[in-house]
Amino acid sequence: MVMMTQSRLLCLYSVLIFLGFTWFISTFEYFCNNDELLEVRERQIDTYKQQVTDKNREIENIQTKMQEYEEKIQRLSHLLQIKTCKPVAGDNDPTLPTLYLITPTYSRLEQKADLTRLSHTLLHVRNLHWIVVEDSEVKTRLVTNFLANCGIHNTHLNTLTPKQVKLKAGDPQWLKPRGVLQRNAGLTWIRTALNPSKNKGVVYFADDDNTYSLELFEEMRQTQKVSVWPVGIVGGLRFESPMVQNGSVIGWHTFWKPERTFALDMAGFAVNLAIIFSHSNAVFSNNVPRGYLENSLLLQLGVKLKDLEPRAENCNKVLVWHTRTEKTKTKNEKITPSDINIEV
Ligand code: UGA
Ligand code: MN
Repeated sequence: MVMMTQSRLLCLYSVLIFLGFTWFISTFEYFCNNDELLEVRERQIDTYKQQVTDKNREIENIQTKMQEYEEKIQRLSHLLQIKTCKPVAGDNDPTLPTLYLITPTYSRLEQKADLTRLSHTLLHVRNLHWIVVEDSEVKTRLVTNFLANCGIHNTHLNTLTPKQVKLKAGDPQWLKPRGVLQRNAGLTWIRTALNPSKNKGVVYFADDDNTYSLELFEEMRQTQKVSVWPVGIVGGLRFESPMVQNGSVIGWHTFWKPERTFALDMAGFAVNLAIIFSHSNAVFSNNVPRGYLENSLLLQLGVKLKDLEPRAENCNKVLVWHTRTEKTKTKNEKITPSDINIEV
């Protein structure tokens, strides 16, 4: 009985050992398999991580490219805007008289800068026709291109000042009159291209280097015969001006030749178009004494002192300045020459 129990116990014991062993083996296998799986997973994760890094790099590259393209598009649309956007001087109003501005101009390093500044002022003025007359044998490419793109209604003319009446380099500025034949070419254009019964307007001689307030143009627009006003920083004074008493001009505040009937600067008056037509022979002359250009024209136009219409708050306000652009010295070009293909 005892033997029997012992053998049964032994049997049970061996069965238990077998079962334990099987369990151990299977668990061991399981752990082994799990480790391998982990490894596989880790490897997979690494691959995914690498793929994510690669994709991120690709995205970064695309973003950089997109930025480059955006900048390119921006640059091109800016260029397109410049090329196609030609602002046209303020809206025209058929009830307003037109301002005919005659501007003599000549080739020099500062020319485009002066013309640019002046044109940007004129872009704000309604009913304006800009007559630009080059002191040159032929129309230059610079001025032709400039006028084509300036956005102002304009007429481009040219006429050369003969050598004998032209300032030479180094001559004092006052030695010879400037812009005479060019202003006359402008007058001739007005007298031939316009119709005195249809065109109502005012003529003003606007040098290319002066500075003009927008108010000045509205002051001159209502000119009946001849409007006058002060001119700033001219004639060695803070300003020159007509002297006004009870609304009439009685003389001139000027240091220089106050005995002139009309002792004013070119920038200081405007003439009604009808007077330009009715005195069709009146022109500027290179042969008048120094400082008599304006005086001579107004006398030929049959103007009397009593005809003058003081503007700009009875000549108490300076709305135009006789500025001058400094002549640029280019001595360093010999050492560091600039690209001649770039227009200045
Ligand atoms: C001053 C007056 O303000 C001018 O209106 C007047 O014509 C001149 O004096 C004169 O007494 O002849 P200023 O500043 O000394 O003018 O002269 P610039 O500005 O050098 O020349 C007047 C205009 O003529 C300008 O529009 C200028 O571009 C033009 N000009 C000048 C030429 O067409 N050719 C030239 O050789 C020089
Ligand atoms: Mn000037």
